[in-house]
Amino acid sequence: MTVSPAAVELQEPLLIGRGTHRLCYQHPRDNSRCIKVLSRRPPRRDQLRAVQRELDMYRRLQQRQIDWSMLARYHGPVETTRGEGQVYELIRDVDGQVARTLEDWLRDTPEALDKAALLTALRQLRRYLMHYRVITTTLHARNMVWQRREDAPPRPVWW
Ligand SMILES: Nc1ncnc2c1ncn2[C@@H]1O[C@H](COP(=O)(O)OP(=O)(O)O)[C@@H](O)[C@H]1O
Ligand SMILES: [Mg+2]
Repeated sequence: MTVSPAAVELQEPLLIGRGTHRLCYQHPRDNSRCIKVLSRRPPRRDQLRAVQRELDMYRRLQQRQIDWSMLARYHGPVETTRGEGQVYELIRDVDGQVARTLEDWLRDTPEALDKAALLTALRQLRRYLMHYRVITTTLHARNMVWQRREDAPPRPVWW
């Protein structure tokens, strides 16, 4: 008989952000990953549908073996103290900080954004998504980070 591993404990200090449907925590055992859990319990039906739609998209993209340069990787489900969670790659900047969403940049420090670089990068993201035939309605500034890198311009990483 297999014993299921203990549920991963998600504590408030690990909270990174809140989305429309989910809370995003840093993974307590792997700082290159994050875990997303539904914020409402019981969840509403539309929340379950939105998450399912995203997981379906990830499954298709994994089958197509895309390159994950502009999309946060998905690492499967995990049992947590806040119910079932999904594990993703946690996007960090070159200095190790969790990358800020494009929405955060636009709201808090718009003057620090290189607008030309942003425009170029967003066009690149559009090409990338078209190349992999991704059709989505969730391309919002709060669904992507603007990742600062070493020796390369920042890039958007979407999820
Ligand atoms: N892969 C990631 N790397 C860094 N931060 C993330 C990542 N995914 C989500 N976040 C943070 O968590 C917040 C909520 O996550 P999100 O997946 O957009 O939730 P929802 O599914 O409810 O829309 C984001 O706005 C962002 O601040
Ligand atoms: Mg979101």
